[in-house]
Amino acid sequence: MFAKPLADIFPCPPAGLDVLSLDEQRVPQHVAVIMDGNGRWAKKRALNRLNGHKAGIEAVRETIRAARDIGVRYLTIYSFSTENWKRPDAEVEGLMNLFAKTMLAEVDELDEEGVRVMTIGDQTRLPVDTREAFARAWEQTKDNPGMTLVVAVNYGGRQELLHAVEQMVQAGRDDPSFEVTEEAFARALYTSSLPDPDLLIRTSGELRISNFLLWQIAYSELFVTDVLWPDFDRYEFLRAVLAFQNRSRRFGGVK
Ligand code: IPE
Ligand code: IPE
Ligand code: MG
Repeated sequence: MFAKPLADIFPCPPAGLDVLSLDEQRVPQHVAVIMDGNGRWAKKRALNRLNGHKAGIEAVRETIRAARDIGVRYLTIYSFSTENWKRPDAEVEGLMNLFAKTMLAEVDELDEEGVRVMTIGDQTRLPVDTREAFARAWEQTKDNPGMTLVVAVNYGGRQELLHAVEQMVQAGRDDPSFEVTEEAFARALYTSSLPDPDLLIRTSGELRISNFLLWQIAYSELFVTDVLWPDFDRYEFLRAVLAFQNRSRRFGGVK
């Protein structure tokens, strides 16, 4: 159900975007986003990359509200990959500080809005302030009934798969009759409590997955926009959802 009339959620649509064509019955349950292009956005303005990441925060805020208002149940945002440690120390450090600061600044408002915050990825390698900010948000919001915001931080699809395989091996040792099934495997992933994404959005025009949710996106609909992440807004989000609603999902069958 929409939280309020569509014209209030999307008050100033750009020309040609038909807000009212959004079908309340076919809103994706889970949307995952590869937020890319912060560095290029900054470069175009002769700013340093961290300014691009800071500008991206507003796009995250907009996306959370738009998703929640149209009735998305799970929103997963790719914030830092296991490969992003390769970046210059100052950028990594700046990002980690930005995550901690933003999480602390936003958690009360998210909590009031009924949003439940969780993380996926290996938190143990994060600086303590960042790890604690996420842990606190998770704890504070864990019983909320609204949309679940999943922050993927130090997340890598391959690392997650290896972690699941290790658990399968251990389960087989503990119980020789243990069977490796799709269900058992999915339960060993960080996303065990989440449905698979229906829609995967990537900004900045790159046509790749960059180690995101490798198992879970087997049948996700893909939407790539050239818009750079800091320029992404509720209207671009709506464009992605409308495109999703026009797809024919067959899951290998016929329709
Ligand atoms: C995405 O923007 C943010 C993170 C990966 C943390 P980038 O920093 O990758 O921006 P580009 O791709 O260099 O433009
Ligand atoms: C993917 O973006 C990771 C995140 C958005 C956190 P990257 O910018 O790291 O991906 P590549 O290097 O272009 O594949
Ligand atoms: Mg990038």
